[in-house]
Amino acid sequence: MKIVTVLLLLTFYTGSGFRAHAAASLGINYGKVADNLPAPAEVVSIIQSISITKAKLYDTDPLVLKTFRNTDISFLVAVRNEDLGNLADQKVADSWIQVNILPYHPDTHIIGIVVGNEIFSSDDTGKWPQVLPAMVNIYQALVALGLDNQIMVSTTHSFAILSSSFPPSSGAFEESLANSYIKPILSFLSTTGAPFMINAYPFFAYKDNPSEVSLGYVLFEQNDGVVDSSNGLRYYNMFDAQLDSVYSAISKLGYNNISILVSETGWPSQGDNNETGATIQNAQIYHANLLQHLSKTTGTPLKPNSSFDVYLFALFNEDKKNGPTSERHYGLFYPDGSKVYNVDFSLLAAGALLKWHCTLLLSCTLGVMMALFIL
Ligand SMILES: *[C@@H]1O[C@H](CO)[C@@H](O)[C@H](O)[C@H]1NC(C)=O
Ligand SMILES: *[C@@H]1O[C@H](CO)[C@@H](O)[C@H](O)[C@H]1NC(C)=O
Ligand SMILES: *[C@@H]1O[C@H](CO)[C@@H](O)[C@H](O)[C@H]1NC(C)=O
Repeated sequence: MKIVTVLLLLTFYTGSGFRAHAAASLGINYGKVADNLPAPAEVVSIIQSISITKAKLYDTDPLVLKTFRNTDISFLVAVRNEDLGNLADQKVADSWIQVNILPYHPDTHIIGIVVGNEIFSSDDTGKWPQVLPAMVNIYQALVALGLDNQIMVSTTHSFAILSSSFPPSSGAFEESLANSYIKPILSFLSTTGAPFMINAYPFFAYKDNPSEVSLGYVLFEQNDGVVDSSNGLRYYNMFDAQLDSVYSAISKLGYNNISILVSETGWPSQGDNNETGATIQNAQIYHANLLQHLSKTTGTPLKPNSSFDVYLFALFNEDKKNGPTSERHYGLFYPDGSKVYNVDFSLLAAGALLKWHCTLLLSCTLGVMMALFIL
């Protein structure tokens, strides 16, 4: 009888770990580089149909922000790259907030401002020095309005700003960026508590080297994993490895209390012949397994208890995007609102998590009561 009790109590202790399940929350990038997308009013129900409660814009589209008023969807909005330079002037930053945030927030819940998109991987090096001053001025404008605790300020980075990413412990930023640009941004983020935003695409690594990189490893399928020989940590998917290489790069610059937010990740459902792996089936598997992974695990091998938000890329296929065919096929939805493939998003929906906990707690409580009864 004693053994039964111990076993049931053990179930209780291991099963009821709230923290163990509060892993990540899911958002979606609402990109609009297209001429055939549904009106924002229809997009509200499309996003709600997949139980996602966070969306990221690449601008502050007034029609979108107006339309999403009083919905359960929160927004990351953005300062466009071409507007960065002007924000070196505090007055311009103050007025940017007046025009682009105050008319909508909080009826439309804005949770963050992304100041520039992937600037440090662009060839427009003239913009590199504009990022931090714009971030600081946007932040100061929020402070003056008492909104800095509601709306975070950061900027998004392409994974290409890392010069080394494998093994993850070797992660480092490009030499030309590390001390001059990234470190001062990290200093700002560590003061404000805002996350470092990274766009992570295991697809790119696979497409560049399909004969060397295992498809199972990039798609979160069963595999033997890869060991980081410098710390013995084993990685079972490239997504975790990419995140840990970013943590390592940040840590090398002296910061250990900055969290990561995955501002984009995704997999295209179609590509050119030389874009190996860009298929509907792989895109479906990537998303299904990513969600499973995020719902089961906390953090990464290097930061086992960290939690981070992940924004999928993207809501729609965007027909006006330049570049290879894959660029126009990252959407979960076609412009007519039909699904490109099926994924069970309810796994990570807030309601589902609560239900899961309650079921678990209920069965645990029943288990303990049974144990007491048997005794
Ligand atoms: C992070 O650490 C630095 C000191 O290293 C401290 O000044 C800062 O307040 C910390 N930030 C947060 C968000 O805890
Ligand atoms: C891949 O194929 C496309 C379309 O055929 C072509 O335009 C592009 O240059 C190719 N890219 C590479 C890297 O070979
Ligand atoms: C993570 O959480 C687990 C379980 O609560 C704990 O045993 C472990 O020490 C934590 N690890 C770190 C690195 O904080």
